Amino acid sequence: MKTYEYDQSAAWFQRAAKVIPCGVYGHFSPAPCVPITHYPFYTARAEGSKFWDVDGNEFIDYMCAYGPMILGYRNPIVDEAFQAQLKVADTSSTASPVMVELAEFMVDLIPVADWAFFAKNGADITNYAVTVARAATGRRKVIAVADEYHGSSPWMQEAGHHGVMDADHVDVIRVPWNDATALEQAFARHEGQVAAFIATPYHTPVFTDNALPAEGYWAQAEAVVRKNGAVLIVDDVRCGFRIDMGGSNEYFGFKPDLICFCKTIANGYPISALVGTDALRTDCAKVFHTGSFWFAAGCMAAALACMKEMKRIDAPKLTMEKGQKLVDGLVDIAKGHGYNLKVTGAPSMPYLRTTDDESLMFHQKLCGESTRRGAFFSSHHNWFLSCAHTDHDIQRTWDIFEDAFKAVLR
Ligand SMILES: Cc1ncc(COP(=O)(O)O)c(C=O)c1O
Repeated sequence: MKTYEYDQSAAWFQRAAKVIPCGVYGHFSPAPCVPITHYPFYTARAEGSKFWDVDGNEFIDYMCAYGPMILGYRNPIVDEAFQAQLKVADTSSTASPVMVELAEFMVDLIPVADWAFFAKNGADITNYAVTVARAATGRRKVIAVADEYHGSSPWMQEAGHHGVMDADHVDVIRVPWNDATALEQAFARHEGQVAAFIATPYHTPVFTDNALPAEGYWAQAEAVVRKNGAVLIVDDVRCGFRIDMGGSNEYFGFKPDLICFCKTIANGYPISALVGTDALRTDCAKVFHTGSFWFAAGCMAAALACMKEMKRIDAPKLTMEKGQKLVDGLVDIAKGHGYNLKVTGAPSMPYLRTTDDESLMFHQKLCGESTRRGAFFSSHHNWFLSCAHTDHDIQRTWDIFEDAFKAVLR
């Protein structure tokens, strides 16, 4: 099987390094792409389940832009809704009616939602949710889960990261995932001071197995939060609409006060949303939170079209099924070579790790060899399935994985 060369990616990266600090920053940074020579850095074109890099190499994309792509790149329904709105108005001096229609749709779709509020990125919304909780309770502290990501604001990053000060973490208490006793103890240690518990529906750390909620965890956690008069925030930025169209909490059987959505809601157009219960409506109205482009109507039209389409085709069910089929085949291929490929998390966004090598080096090589044959795999982060992945894509991916395995073992 042909392996890819990345001369143009490398040339663009050299140009970038002169004018952009570290060339490509944040979650698209090449740093975790190991071996670095096996990955592309720049996309020239994307369509359906695939993208083509600046060297013309074709990839079946299992990162889906790190989540946003759910219906396939350049989905015509979403793109037409976006274009049609652009023709009449996008960013202008007042809000657009499509914002009201979008909020109405989300309130109908999501059982917890009595209202919706829109911004651009996930961190806009997780920050806003915490501010609303502080306004509602008059308390400062926030409990979050250790190693869970809610965005790149300093309080959300890990202690010790560049530019993150101890003061940024004074009001943030981290507790282990799936440990309702630790949560209860944290509330007790800071009695009367905790505004909110913020958590993802299940645990999605990087470089580590993902973990679904243990039996009874969410019921216990919800009860602890309620007993302490705090606000329960679900960060559904990553899982949203790959698990349940009503919010991932519906699947896991609990009711938060606020839910943060972002990635999938407009199939890649930049928009995020906070939905919440009536009890927090007034506090939400009183908190000032806004941005230059937060009222851009094109993205709202795209989000409305995307959510209607995800609902029509049952995107969570589809992506779960496709993910299960994909990983079952990959696990069998690994087994055929005498290796154990461990799959954790939801099948629609699985985290995979070859358990035979704790250092991850074998797994990194395997993902790198797969990528340079056309199946874009991350070795440190959960993958994402889309509704556009076909049986043909999956079969091709298995063939690539088989060949990659042979190359690593050679
Ligand atoms: C669970 C979760 N919350 C929040 C965020 C932050 O979203 P954004 O990068 O759009 O600010 C992310 C991003 O990956 C995420 O996965």
